[in-house]
Amino acid sequence: MSSQEISEESLPSEQDTAHGKAVAESPFANPGLPPHKPRIQDIDERAAKRSERTVALLFTISMLATVGFIASFVIFPVDKIVYVWPLGHVSATNLSLGLTLGIALFCIGAGAVHWARTLMSDAEVADDRHPIEAAPELKAKVMADFAQGAQESALGRRKLIRTTMFGALAMVPLSGLVLLRELGPMPEKKLFHTSWAKGKQLINMNTMQPLRPEDVAVGSLTFAMPEGLSEEDHDFNNKIAKDALMIVRIQPADIKDKRELEWSYDGIVAFSKICTHVGCPISLYEQQTHHVLCPCHQSTFDLSDGARVIFGPAGHALPQLRIGVNGKGNLEALGDFAEPVGPAFWERG
Ligand code: FES
Repeated sequence: MSSQEISEESLPSEQDTAHGKAVAESPFANPGLPPHKPRIQDIDERAAKRSERTVALLFTISMLATVGFIASFVIFPVDKIVYVWPLGHVSATNLSLGLTLGIALFCIGAGAVHWARTLMSDAEVADDRHPIEAAPELKAKVMADFAQGAQESALGRRKLIRTTMFGALAMVPLSGLVLLRELGPMPEKKLFHTSWAKGKQLINMNTMQPLRPEDVAVGSLTFAMPEGLSEEDHDFNNKIAKDALMIVRIQPADIKDKRELEWSYDGIVAFSKICTHVGCPISLYEQQTHHVLCPCHQSTFDLSDGARVIFGPAGHALPQLRIGVNGKGNLEALGDFAEPVGPAFWERG
């Protein structure tokens, strides 16, 4: 039969549609519902009990898996590698976290499905299609159906299922909570201090030798780091990002800031090399004006006036390190910086 024939023979005429005959004379017979077969749980209370225990067991396994997730997070070091056939060498932490979380979620889903298939109401319901827009009566019916469904789920009567289900649902989010530990340890007081301490010699970062006052000429710019720090150290980059110093020599008469003069040695001043805007290393020195310029966003600091900001987005002067000379004639720190270096503390407490 061609599509043309179908459209001509099967489609209702305009007149039929107008009188509502199109629905009544549908060419498709209503197949109806197959005969209802009661489930074993509907006719045998012992089978229903068995299903109840199965659902409770699945929820209990989910709870145990969540406990396993938390335990494996604590027990396995991050770098622990194990051999598991057929996966080969895998991270013990990743494997155990994935397995336990997968089991916990799967068992909640499997428990809910088994519960619905074996214990919840098995009444078969047929409903005609309706317009998409729901009528108020339909909405009321939905709410009534929902309430009836809640009642038929026997949540109130099956206390074992209810308790274990709420337990499993309440415990699964704990897996996400323990992952917060991966945000890293609290910085505590670490950001307030650098490696500088009283008596630590200033090491010239070019020669890697202790810096002496006669090595620092007026108008020159020298970079220094604390003695004991080595580029071979595993945390060298972290430390130098806070410890790096700029050393310049200014005629004492040209130093305008009183504290800067007190913390200097014979016109030699030591300032943090880390820009207080967003932490770039500063390296451009203008010897006539004693200005240093940060190449990132052009913040400019006046090293003859407490390294105060004279231009750009930086919000704070560069911290100064108090220095002196030890018995060997080398420059040394007389303590740590008096304030955090860099931009880590925007308002400095
Ligand atoms: S980091 Fe120095 S000006 Fe922005």
